[in-house]
Amino acid sequence: VSSIRTTSPEVLIELDRSRPRGLRAQVEEELRAAIRSGRLAAGTVLPSSRALAADLGVTRGVVVAAYDQLISEGYLSAHQGSGTVVDATVRRAAPPVASRPAAAPLDVDFRPGLPDLDLFPRTAWGRATRAALQSTPRDDLGYIASQGLPQLRQELADYLGRVRGVSAEPDRLVICNGFGHGLSLVAGVLRAAGHDVFAVEDPGYDGARTTLAFTGMRHRGTPVDDDGLVVDRLRGSGARVAVVTPAHQNPTGAVMSSARRTALVAWAREVGGYVVEDDYDAEYRYDRHPTGAIQGLDPDRVIYCGTTSKSLAPGLRLGWLVLPDELVEPVVADRRATDSATSSILQATYAAFLAAGDLDRHLRRTRRIYRQRRDALIAGLARWFPEATPCGVSAGLQFLLRLPDHLDEEAFAARALEAGTKVYPLGPYRTGRSGDHWPGILLGYGRLTPAAAERGARVLGETARAAGR
Ligand SMILES: Cc1ncc(COP(=O)(O)O)c(C=O)c1O
Repeated sequence: VSSIRTTSPEVLIELDRSRPRGLRAQVEEELRAAIRSGRLAAGTVLPSSRALAADLGVTRGVVVAAYDQLISEGYLSAHQGSGTVVDATVRRAAPPVASRPAAAPLDVDFRPGLPDLDLFPRTAWGRATRAALQSTPRDDLGYIASQGLPQLRQELADYLGRVRGVSAEPDRLVICNGFGHGLSLVAGVLRAAGHDVFAVEDPGYDGARTTLAFTGMRHRGTPVDDDGLVVDRLRGSGARVAVVTPAHQNPTGAVMSSARRTALVAWAREVGGYVVEDDYDAEYRYDRHPTGAIQGLDPDRVIYCGTTSKSLAPGLRLGWLVLPDELVEPVVADRRATDSATSSILQATYAAFLAAGDLDRHLRRTRRIYRQRRDALIAGLARWFPEATPCGVSAGLQFLLRLPDHLDEEAFAARALEAGTKVYPLGPYRTGRSGDHWPGILLGYGRLTPAAAERGARVLGETARAAGR
């Protein structure tokens, strides 16, 4: 059997033996459909009739007859020596035709939350990978400690203390696969400790709500204003844990005021709960007024979460938690029980990357670029769409644009898309009930050249005027 399989590629053909239609017709239909859909591309060599018959549990005659039929229809051709091949002249079925008239091709995509992946520091990362491979001891290729490699925890502790004001002894750090993963670990542990409701920002990052729902946690939307989360509104919410983005609220771009920070930590102490601080894009602040992390105010009440998804690339899947002492052991136990640990090679690489000063270099370079892109978009909007108001501080990879009240954000986004510019309505960020509602769209500028940002701004202004008519 094995010799048949090695010389003969496998194809997926599903036969339904309860169907009245004969097996030969089914083999034929399945192959025809696979070729028409492109699943079997021109030039693909099919299994020999003997091998396919054995795989399917049918007589060889069934397969021979099906192949002959498809050869006569031009789907297959038989070549002496190389077997039966999907014919090169076969045309794939045309994709279904959209019923709406074609919109303009997508020119500008303001998708929020993504760094420019073309700016990923491939050379420096390659150097760090080589350094990591050369220095990684053999045992680090085995099952490593679930908490994370000591050298990475040390590098991160130094970095977070230096740049974010986080009080991060390496023993309180747990390496994970990004914010979403970190939040799911924290939610699982706190759920076991009797928490079943988390307060979240409204509007707020929908990804956090999705993760909480997945872990069986309920959430309560708590309003956000220009000073960040309205802490007073936490009382009576039933929640003793609040997930916040104090350095740069997603999506409003507000920075939490120092009075609110103090009040938030006081609330966590008062209710015996925690603040989950999502510090997702604090690396990118363009106005020279960086604000430190809340965690420094009370490391026993604040769970700090960091990620490389904005500073480098979401595809890395690398993040970290800085935990109150009492949560370290249960979180590490969950980490061990679920997928053991984050890749040791990845951890060692990031440790080398930090140790070489490459993160600082990368951030200095990209901050300048993102700032130019943001400035170009703001200037474009001021020129083409002055009735709209950009919200928040000069930071991050996106901002919220408040639309004039008479516009409907969904209809506006649909019209802009028809003109080739994609924007993202605020709706999915709202939890529903807690705040006052005005129309808004998210504009991610991280991946746009200044010229593209300006083109997009112009389309948005034109879209608003067309909608007003
Ligand atoms: C507020 C916020 N937190 C965290 C993340 C990143 O999550 P992760 O580290 O799971 O990629 C995002 C990404 O969009 C975000 O908007």
